[in-house]
Amino acid sequence: KGYIAEAEAFRAHTKEDLEAFRIKFLGKKGVLNDFLAEFKNVPNDMKKEFGQVINNLKNAAQHKVNAIQDELESKVESKNLYGDLTRPGEPFQVGSRHPISIVKNQIIDIFSNIGFNVSEGPEIEDDWHNFTALNLPEYHPARDMQDTFFIQTNPDVLLRTHTSSVQVRYMENNKPPIRTISPGRVFRNEAISSRSHCIFHQVEGLYIDKDVSFADLKQTLLYFTKEMFGKSKIRLRPSYFPFTEPSAEVDIYWGLKTEIDYRITKGTGWLEIMGCGMVDPNVLKNCGIDAAKYNGFAFGMGIERIAMLLYQISDIRMFYENDVRFLEQFKSSI
Ligand code: PHE
Repeated sequence: KGYIAEAEAFRAHTKEDLEAFRIKFLGKKGVLNDFLAEFKNVPNDMKKEFGQVINNLKNAAQHKVNAIQDELESKVESKNLYGDLTRPGEPFQVGSRHPISIVKNQIIDIFSNIGFNVSEGPEIEDDWHNFTALNLPEYHPARDMQDTFFIQTNPDVLLRTHTSSVQVRYMENNKPPIRTISPGRVFRNEAISSRSHCIFHQVEGLYIDKDVSFADLKQTLLYFTKEMFGKSKIRLRPSYFPFTEPSAEVDIYWGLKTEIDYRITKGTGWLEIMGCGMVDPNVLKNCGIDAAKYNGFAFGMGIERIAMLLYQISDIRMFYENDVRFLEQFKSSI
């Protein structure tokens, strides 16, 4: 019985201690076997009690061995997990913003500083918002300028070809004064090359108030190009858009410092970055704005073009390939 008490009180901190204990009690020449050998010498009337005591001892010893073994093993496990708290951490990859998002956010910041808000709308549009309200009635030849992806015809459902559709929605739902920019993805059925793609991104702007002049438009563009590119040598070429009159295309003088500058500007140093003009009164009327009282200007630019220039990217397709070697280069930008 003394041995049972000893077995129950036993503690071990190492495998070696435990093994010594096991040998002492359960080993071939251990206490238990000694008692079993003694069994035949025990008087018959005490055999039952003696047997029970041996059994208890065996159970106590075995139980102890199992329990301590479990304990030691879990200690090893947790030591492996938490062992050295000073060891260097596991490095993990931090993502980066896509260059299109970086440039888009910059454009939004620049226009927010002069009071423009941001508006968004659906990529799948109806004929009214993408064309008709913008002074492009059915059979208008200028519809061909925008190689449209139709989802359904009659009534027409299509992928928007510009975010001017968002401006129509904005004018339908808000009263002047309006100062809003509409960034978003647009779609055109164009041959894919290093310079153009069937998906790209635009930021279009709309300013409607009383007595807005072409000079306001020009000054806004000068402010924008100076903030965006750090330079503001621009030129406005007369152009045509059904929704603006007069209309112009805006070129920025970028220069010819690198081979990519040559490629992107086709060797001229000038790059067309946007279209603009004074909103045609018909558009205002279509959107429920009193054209006798209000007027305004609009502009629209492609984000890819600007990103290509700023980051010296020679092929527009790189934006959509998700090649990590390309995306990783924008790590330090937010
Ligand atoms: N919506 C025109 C385009 O996608 C750009 C534009 C916007 C032109 C506003 C003039 C005024 O090409």
